[in-house]
Amino acid sequence: MTDGLLGLRGQAFTFRHDPFQGEAGEALLHCPDALVVMRGGTIIGFGDHATERARHPADMPVHHYPEGTISPGFIDAHVHYPQLEITGAFGETLLDWLRRYTYPTEAGFADAAHAARIARIFLRELLRAGTTTACVYCTVHEHSADALFAEAERLGLRIIAGKVLMDRNAPDELLDGADHGIPATRRLIARWHGRGRLLYAITPRFAPACTDAALAAAGQLWCDNPGTYVQTHLCETEAEIAWVRELFPESPSYLGVYARAGLAGPRAVMGHAVHVTEYDLHALRRSGCGVAHCPSSNLFLGSGLFRLHDAKAAGLRVGLGSDVGGGTGLSTLRTLGDAYKVARMRGARLHPAQALWLATRGGAEALRLENRIGTLAPGMEADLVVLDPQATPALALRTEAASDPADRLFALMALGDERAVRATYVAGRLAHDREAAEPHP
Ligand code: GUN
Ligand code: ZN
Repeated sequence: MTDGLLGLRGQAFTFRHDPFQGEAGEALLHCPDALVVMRGGTIIGFGDHATERARHPADMPVHHYPEGTISPGFIDAHVHYPQLEITGAFGETLLDWLRRYTYPTEAGFADAAHAARIARIFLRELLRAGTTTACVYCTVHEHSADALFAEAERLGLRIIAGKVLMDRNAPDELLDGADHGIPATRRLIARWHGRGRLLYAITPRFAPACTDAALAAAGQLWCDNPGTYVQTHLCETEAEIAWVRELFPESPSYLGVYARAGLAGPRAVMGHAVHVTEYDLHALRRSGCGVAHCPSSNLFLGSGLFRLHDAKAAGLRVGLGSDVGGGTGLSTLRTLGDAYKVARMRGARLHPAQALWLATRGGAEALRLENRIGTLAPGMEADLVVLDPQATPALALRTEAASDPADRLFALMALGDERAVRATYVAGRLAHDREAAEPHP
């Protein structure tokens, strides 16, 4: 009786320890012929095929990817689903980009049917990118969060998301009223938080779009709803930081604005943190916040170069965010290529083990889900991606010339994108098969 058992066979990568501590290469565990066994949405076995196969029934179905590389599913720790349509908008810095492209596009989500359509496309695009968990901003409209959660539930994805809270410095039609969006958020928490794999994030957009009263109300709501998340933006650009200084002259720092409102702590996920002061870097760690490094967005909008290695050395929990539509795509592999380039611009090197960590286990740590996702091990949720190092002629050629498994992994990050995602498994179920991809709705 195979009873819902499913095996995945191929090469596999996982970790011995955090590759930012000690020798990065030694942290990477490469198994040239691995078997992952899943049942009921959970990994129940993982090891060398030769030994692991014998522990399970002979008639267990096994999906074999002889050229494939199995990794924990990718985690996108910061992304805006309503911005998919404006990905790659030309020529602006953050604050102009928000005014010129982002806010008008998000205003279109007043139409619930539009929100449902974009949510559907977005989540299928996540699967094509190999992403199985994401921390997602919706728009200010309550139904924009309903649309995303409902579709995520259908697909079985682990999604943390929230309706954006904003009550100033944006077009009127995008502003919460005198109630600061709190009753709508409360209703959404009641409907979705903890339902299946879904979790709620209270989502004040960023300090400049929120009054003191709105931030305080969001902090109180977080306190009243243990287990929920907070997500927001922190120190993304110099101009934004100067604006925060003007708007909150009494606050000692940008992070201080959130901390004072009770919005810093475990399960708070700060996007960007590019220009944080030394003090705030350590305050982030002390408070237990996670940070989402968004290299594609930071390059595209010209925001700055995140100090990844300093952040890790300070003990921060750091994950990776595509930050679409500031970032130019949902592909985690491409975002990792950008993370490598940002590190180079800082004179540092991002080892492929460190990069893969950011997109898997590091993201899980930032989201405080490391006991459930981000690692290939029995007991973990069965979210997996199978990568194809032969996906394009150029990648195949580069892979052929690669010196070792870590270099083959690096080639995937330097040259790969959605084309290199052969399959994505969500809670033990094949959710995307490149060879059978369905057309968009
Ligand atoms: N800061 C406030 N809102 C946004 C947004 O939508 N995208 C990015 N990248 N930064 C922001
Ligand atoms: Zn963002």
